[in-house]
Amino acid sequence: MRKPIIAGNWKMHKTLGEAEQFYADVQGEIPDPAKVETVICAPYPFLYRLAGLSEGKAPSVGAQNMHWEDAGAFTGEVSPVQLKDLGVNYAIIGHSERREYSNETDETVNLKLKAALGHGIIPIVCVGETLEEREEGRTEAKVSGQVKAAFVEVSRGEAEQTVIAYEPIWAIGTGKTATSEEAGAVCRTIRNTLGELYGGETAAKIRIQYGGSVKPDNIGELLAQPDIDGALVGGASLDPESFLRLAEVAA
Ligand code: G3H
Repeated sequence: MRKPIIAGNWKMHKTLGEAEQFYADVQGEIPDPAKVETVICAPYPFLYRLAGLSEGKAPSVGAQNMHWEDAGAFTGEVSPVQLKDLGVNYAIIGHSERREYSNETDETVNLKLKAALGHGIIPIVCVGETLEEREEGRTEAKVSGQVKAAFVEVSRGEAEQTVIAYEPIWAIGTGKTATSEEAGAVCRTIRNTLGELYGGETAAKIRIQYGGSVKPDNIGELLAQPDIDGALVGGASLDPESFLRLAEVAA
């Protein structure tokens, strides 16, 4: 009953020309949107152009971050109002790279989550543990704490609109993937945490992605886990053929 969602996170890759070429290559080839939701989270300067190319068709366009205020003196930032105005309907929030390099905290993640929901942008909220935390047996506490902090003052109805991405930090861009069982177990913990916050019925509606070295040849077994509903994909989303393959396996 949860539609799978495959989101590419291009991070700081591609030129505008390359981004346009990617859209030309994948449009018309994406599997039936009734079976799989696809999103490309591109760098800010490409969003206007890609949203125009997408014209509401798959893949949808997402941002990799956003500010929580509608407008103001925040040099270098982009607001949810501006994103929505461009036709951007998704935003990654709290990616571990932003938590590590750009001062993103549980508090700013919460502010951004509420702002996205307030403007009809689907937030893809990232959570995940470091290698040290995993080795010390603190994975569940870390991830469930991040989920609880992200959803402070978020209503049940709003929570149902969100997507959560579980990304073990040690598996990002390293070629190391959590085993599908490990990933599935943490996604179950996330769903249980959502159940504590909102009850089982709402928790069952929220989509949870896995992210971290997802590729066409490992996505099948990850999606076979009952609590994994899609993937947030970095490296393998840059190549049109590989992105299409990921979407096909998920459909
Ligand atoms: O947002 C995507 C993740 O950070 C995963 O990146 O697929 O290159 O490991 P990756």
